[in-house]
Order: sequence, then C-alpha cells, then structure tokens
Amino acid sequence: MKPAHVAIIMDGNGRWAEARGLPRRAGHRAGVEALRKAVRSAGELGINWLTVYAFSSENWSRPRSEVNDLMGLLRLFIRRDLAELHQNGVRVRIIGDRENLEKDIKSLLLEAENLTAENTSMNLVIAFNYGARDEIVRAAKSLFADVQAGKITADDIDIDGFGNRLDTAGIPDPDLIIRTSGEQRLSNFLLWQAAYAEFVFLPCHWPDFGRCELETALATFNARERRFGGVGAREAAL
Ligand code: IPE
Ligand code: IPE
Ligand code: MG
Repeated sequence: MKPAHVAIIMDGNGRWAEARGLPRRAGHRAGVEALRKAVRSAGELGINWLTVYAFSSENWSRPRSEVNDLMGLLRLFIRRDLAELHQNGVRVRIIGDRENLEKDIKSLLLEAENLTAENTSMNLVIAFNYGARDEIVRAAKSLFADVQAGKITADDIDIDGFGNRLDTAGIPDPDLIIRTSGEQRLSNFLLWQAAYAEFVFLPCHWPDFGRCELETALATFNARERRFGGVGAREAAL
C-alpha cells in the first residue's frame, strides 16, 4: 500500500555543511533545493499529502544569525516557488503558531494558503514555528474557552473533536514519518497525529535526500504490517 500522507523531519542540514567545510547556512540552502525535489517526487509518486518540518518552536534557541537565515529561506521559498506550486495544482497549508512571526512572513503564509486553496492535485503542509506540545496546549485552551462560554460541555469533548482543534484539522494523520540524518526521535513533531504512523529513519542528511531515498522509504513502509491495535491479517484469516 502507498501511504496517503508522508511527513518528513528534514534533519541534518548543518552536519551536511560541516562535513564539506561550509557554513551551516549553506546546508540550509541546499536543504531548500532538496525540499523542491521532494515535493516534485512525492507528486510524481502519487503521494496525496506531504508534510515537512521546516522550523520547530524550539529552533528559536539557535544563534540569531541562523534563525535569520532560516526565516530568509522561508521567504525565498514562498516567493520563488509559490507560482510553480500553484501551477502544479499543489495546495499549501501551514501548521504552527503564527501569532509571533514577523508581519511579512505572516502575510506570505496567508498568501500561499489563499492562492492555492482550491488546488486538488496534491497537498503540501509546511510545519513552521511548529511544536506539537504547543499545538496541543492551544487546542486545549480553545476547548476550554468554548466550555467557559457555555458553547459546549466537557462531555462533548471527544477524540475527533479534540483533533479538530489542532492545526491539522481536516488533514489525515500521517501514515509514514521519515527522518533523515540518522537521528531517531520526533523532536516535538505531530505527537498526537503520529499515534499509528510508521517510522523510517534514513542515514542520509536532508540535502542528500532525493527521489531514490523517498522510494526506499516507501518500499520499507510497504513491507510493514499495520495493525492499529487489532490482530494481523494472517491471524484474522485463521
Ligand atoms: C534541519 O537541519 C533544519 C532545521 C532544523 C531547521 P539542522 O539544522 O537541524 O541540521 P543538524 O541536525 O544540525 O545537522
Ligand atoms: C527537528 O530538528 C526540527 C526540524 C527538522 C525543523 P532539530 O535538529 O531541531 O531536532 P533536535 O534538536 O536534533 O532534536
Ligand atoms: Mg538537527
């Protein structure tokens, strides 16, 4: 089976650059190129939903110059690639906390979502200033506000209702989560949504990720048996 939704933790830009004696920002620049290729390859391979982790709520703790580089690259990516994404029928959505982002970034993100809102070929979800714990707390606050206002009662809160308060409301849970660079952790990515995701960890750094690496991850996914708490297909047939 092909995963409907692939999510990627694009990790290892810094180490890719360091291994080549380049500054970290060169790694991030190469990472944007890899992102372009990944969106194209995912489209060609018939992946309906692609989510990419571009900047975490914890990445603000990096040196200021690196944070500025990353903000600049997001601006560049949207300005340069939005038209092509739109032409290819890609719908763009952003998850994460936008409140405290710079004004021009906020409007670029909104522009990307509005321009592509009617597109149906493929969905690209960009996790930017995203942290799953922050997302869950914001969802809890919004539920609490509705309970306080008397719009709902605590008994009305269920799993689907909670999920609909998350930034990913309306987005199916990821089937496959890929992380590059050899690290094997979630780093605050999609904690709620990853409940039944399959994980594939690849040794390559993000700038070296291409169609071949995506196909490898898809093949690994394909060989897995998902059970969702039930019994396997073989046992069920007995
Ligand atoms: C991923 O690469 C990009 C972001 C987190 C924005 P890193 O910058 O984390 O690269 P490493 O992990 O230091 O090699
Ligand atoms: C996760 O990578 C965030 C993104 C890829 C945007 P990090 O490099 O920030 O994660 P840690 O610090 O190694 O856990
Ligand atoms: Mg990293």
